[in-house]
Amino acid sequence: MSTQRVAVITGGASGIGRETCLKFASKGDRVVVADFNEAGGQETVDLIKKAGGEAIFVQTDVSKPEQVEALVNQAVETYGRIDVMFNNAGIGLQTPVMDLDLEKYHKTIGVNQHGVTYGIIYAGRKMKELGIKGVIINTSSVFGVLASPGTFAYHAAKGAVNMMTKSAALELSPYGIRVVAVAPGAVDTPIIAGYKASGMLSTMKAKVMGGELTKPESVANSVYLVSLDEADAINGSIVMVDQGFAS
Ligand code: NAI
Repeated sequence: MSTQRVAVITGGASGIGRETCLKFASKGDRVVVADFNEAGGQETVDLIKKAGGEAIFVQTDVSKPEQVEALVNQAVETYGRIDVMFNNAGIGLQTPVMDLDLEKYHKTIGVNQHGVTYGIIYAGRKMKELGIKGVIINTSSVFGVLASPGTFAYHAAKGAVNMMTKSAALELSPYGIRVVAVAPGAVDTPIIAGYKASGMLSTMKAKVMGGELTKPESVANSVYLVSLDEADAINGSIVMVDQGFAS
């Protein structure tokens, strides 16, 4: 019998993160839902339990290294292992470069880039220590490879996530730990609410094959597929989950 996996998923209170929690749980994995939104995170746990799955919530601000370390420790204390770390929490503040609001800039980098760094470090160390051949998956974006005006800090962070993924994959591969990025295009979640108001959404829809926003469930399905041992050759890759947005 194969060991039941443990997946830690940040940003699990909403959107892509929540759907990924539900997906992994529906496949029999135990899920550690992490987010700074306590009510939303607890709701995800309730949804999992209602469907017969196993999950806990750990309130976490991913921009704080000590909280991400505590999250990983909590996962191992509760379930004894960590097989999947999905560094997914993110924010989408508008940060045009010529009028850069430094506070927003640092906040965006703190969550979207440093949050991923901390997840790689603490989950990677723990997997190595426990001898687990796990997988670390980072949420990038089409905006990690394509520019759009007004989102300077977001591009900086997601571009960094892509190179951090490749760099960490090289360093962790001797331990059998894979590091992969998924890069969604335009996904129907609260993070793009600002775009809905600005009318930019119709431009985005026109770019995606099929003409409709990607469903968060579709991204969750791709994350799950990438996490499987059968995907062992997918390592250091930026997997585009964008309906051709960046093609
Ligand atoms: P969302 O807004 O529905 O979910 C983001 C979650 O991250 C929320 O639950 C929020 O509470 C949490 N979060 C924010 N800051 C946090 C922090 N400091 N610590 C812990 N949790 C925090 O948005 P969505 O779309 O599900 O975003 C998930 C990821 O997907 C993000 O990294 C985002 O940049 C990325 N993405 C989203 C796209 C889209 O079109 N929706 C496209 C490409 C990438």
